[in-house]
Amino acid sequence: MEHARPHRWQPPRLCLSSGKGGVGKTSLAVNLAYALADQGLRVLLVDGDLGLANVDVLLGLSATATIREVLAHDLDPRAALIQVAPGLAVLPAGSGVAELANLPPEDQRHLGRLLEGLCQDFQLVLVDTAAGLGPSVLWFNTWAQYNLVVVTPDPTSLTDAYALIKVLCRAHRRRRFLILPNQVDSEAEGQRTFATLSQVAARFLEVELDYLGSIPADPAVQQGVREQVPFVQVAPKSAAGRALTVLAARVLNSIATCQPPPAADQEEVGS
Ligand SMILES: Nc1ncnc2c1ncn2[C@@H]1O[C@H](COP(=O)(O)OP(=O)(O)OP(=O)(O)O)[C@@H](O)[C@H]1O
Ligand SMILES: [Mg+2]
Repeated sequence: MEHARPHRWQPPRLCLSSGKGGVGKTSLAVNLAYALADQGLRVLLVDGDLGLANVDVLLGLSATATIREVLAHDLDPRAALIQVAPGLAVLPAGSGVAELANLPPEDQRHLGRLLEGLCQDFQLVLVDTAAGLGPSVLWFNTWAQYNLVVVTPDPTSLTDAYALIKVLCRAHRRRRFLILPNQVDSEAEGQRTFATLSQVAARFLEVELDYLGSIPADPAVQQGVREQVPFVQVAPKSAAGRALTVLAARVLNSIATCQPPPAADQEEVGS
């Protein structure tokens, strides 16, 4: 069964990754999706952490079907969608399925076709990915036109973010990255974190890094995770909530003002 249909227009696709685990990708992806949906956009949030899905956990959802069943049984992915807010739908992923973390090329092609049919119902698509540089992480990054890299001031996070950018640049010809420092003590620390990463990148890689502003370390984020609610909704006036609203505007601006890479860049990633 084939669900994709011929089409001309596809919504922008923005993929969040980090290299290092636990830096805040899922928390930020979920809250960014809410903030963008609040601005009136129809947003699809894809849980691209195919082995250890977390979007459903952060939102307290119980998925009846996930990307795993969609792929295994060639289902229409609309059957797995969960509408979590008026403008926001989540496509959940399964947890504890090791082989999904390393999607082979035929599954990448299949998932790409299914997602492209689904995307036409939305105005913006966000993808939360797993940590690391595995094939599924790289595939989602090349499937998306826009690559957002979450980084913390921690040197290991900077090193891993650089490694991700390097692989996407050298092996997949990605040239532009949106950089989002998270868990910073101050905006100055966010700027320093960005400056450190961009200096190394400018020295060794042909890439353009854009600073998206930073998200402060804020207990409201942890509380949102524990209570399984988006902090941008329950604590919009918190430091992280305000930063998230600014981030949503910057993301929209970045997407509006930059040309996505050519479609030929959306390629298979060997396992
Ligand atoms: N700005 C922040 N302030 C305080 N805590 C934060 C912030 N961002 C993330 N955290 C905390 O960091 C932890 C990890 O966050 P999250 O699960 O979003 O990271 P991740 O990058 O998606 O992890 P993984 O790589 O395992 O998927 C969570 O407990 C979250 O509350
Ligand atoms: Mg995560």
